[in-house]
Amino acid sequence: MTLPGHPFLASHDDQLTLEGHSLTELGRRFGTPLYVYSRNAMRAQAASYQRALAGRSHLVCYAMKANSSLAVLQTFAEAGCGFDIVSGGELQRVLTAGGRADRIVFSGVGKTAEEMRLALDARVRCFNVESEAELSVLSEVAHAMGRRAPVSLRVNPDVDAGTHPYISTGLKANKFGIAHEQALAAYARARALPGIEVMGIDCHIGSQITSASPYLDALDRLLDLVDALSAQGVDLQHIDLGGGLGITYTDEEPPSAEDLVRQMLGRIDARGHGHREVLVEPGRSLVGNAGVLLSSVLYLKPGEEKNFCIVDAAMNDLVRPAMYQAWMRIEPCQRRGSTVARTWDVVGPVCESGDWLGHDRKLAVEQGDVLAVLSAGAYGMTMASNYNTRPRAAEVMVDGDAVHLIRERESIEQLIAGERLIG
Ligand code: LLP
Repeated sequence: MTLPGHPFLASHDDQLTLEGHSLTELGRRFGTPLYVYSRNAMRAQAASYQRALAGRSHLVCYAMKANSSLAVLQTFAEAGCGFDIVSGGELQRVLTAGGRADRIVFSGVGKTAEEMRLALDARVRCFNVESEAELSVLSEVAHAMGRRAPVSLRVNPDVDAGTHPYISTGLKANKFGIAHEQALAAYARARALPGIEVMGIDCHIGSQITSASPYLDALDRLLDLVDALSAQGVDLQHIDLGGGLGITYTDEEPPSAEDLVRQMLGRIDARGHGHREVLVEPGRSLVGNAGVLLSSVLYLKPGEEKNFCIVDAAMNDLVRPAMYQAWMRIEPCQRRGSTVARTWDVVGPVCESGDWLGHDRKLAVEQGDVLAVLSAGAYGMTMASNYNTRPRAAEVMVDGDAVHLIRERESIEQLIAGERLIG
C-alpha cells in the first residue's frame, strides 16, 4: 500500500519501504541520521512538468537550493533539466555534476561582481536581475569582459501567495524583484546599458503554494508588462514563471505540476503569447516527497506533562520544524503490534527547546527503532548546519534495485579541518 502523496513510499509486511527497500535496513546499514531519496520519484516529478510543456520551446530549471547534492543534480541533468542557481557555489556544483551552463538561470538579490564574472565565463543562459543597481553592476562587469549579459528582469507582481511569511516573496513588502510599476522604466534602463541584452521576464511569488489562483494572477500582471513592452517594440524571448508549487506534508492538496502548468499555458496562449519560450523554476515539488530523513530513537522519556522521544536527528539536520514551525509527518519504519501507541514530542539532542521534529505525535515506538520524517527531500540537507559540532548526515539514493551512497557522513576531522589554533 503506498502512502497518499508519496507514490514510491509503501508499507509492506509492517515495514516502511522506499522503492521497495526497507528503511529500517537502510538505517541500520548506513547509520542514522540518514537522508534517503528515491531517484524514480524525482524523475517522475520532472516528467510531470515536461509532459505539460511538451511541444513548445521550454526549459525546466530545477531550483537546486531545495537539494543540491551532486547525484540529485546529475539525476535532473540526465532528465534534460536546467538549473536555477543563486550563488557561485551552486554554479560550480551544477558544472561538477555534468549540468549544462546554457541551461542555467542565475537568480538572487545579492549577486556579487565575482559571481557575475564566474557565470559570464561559464556562459549561463540568463541572469534574473532583481534591482536597477544590480543591472548597473552586471552591465559594467560584462562590458569589461567584452560581453553582454543575457538578462530577464524579476518583477514583483504584488500578489499574495497565501503561504508562510518567511517563504512568501511576491509582495511589495518583500525584498525580491523589481516593483511592477517600476518595471517598464527598468527595462528601458536595461536596454540602454552597453553590457546588457534583454531576453525575458521572470517572477517567483513564494514557496509551498497550494492553489493555482495566485499563479494566474501573477501571470496576468506579467503578461500586461509583456504587452506593454511589445507596444514599445521590445519582443521578449522567454517568460519565466518561477517555482513555488507546494507538496503534501499533511492534508494539503496542491494541483499536480502538470495541471498547474497546463492552466498557466492556457492563459499564456489565450493572451497571444504562445510562441514565447516558457521557463519554470520548481524546487520543492521536484524533490520534497522523494526523500525521507531516518533517525533512531535514542531514549524514551515519559513525563508528567510531556512524553519525549529523543532521536539522533536534530534541528541541525532538518531545520524546517524549528524555523517555520513546519509540520512534517513522522512514521515508524517498522510497525509494532505489541507496543502501545503514546503521544510523543519527537526531539533531537541539540541543547535548545526549539530543537524538535514533531510535537504531539501518536507513535508506537521503542528505544532503537528507526523513524522516518517524510517529505524531507527538499530544504533538508541543504539547510543542515554543524550546530553543536554535529557532522552532517549521510545520503543514500535508491534507484530500482540499486542502492547508492551519494554522500558520506561528515567526519569531525573534516569539520574542523580549516580551523587554526593561535600561536
Ligand atoms: N525560484 C526562486 C527565485 C526562488 O527563490 C525559489 C525558492 C524557487 C525558485 C523554488 O521554490 P520552490 O519550488 O522550492 O518552492 N526553505 C524554505 C523554502 C525557501 C524557498 C526559497 N526560494 C522551506 O523549507 O520551506
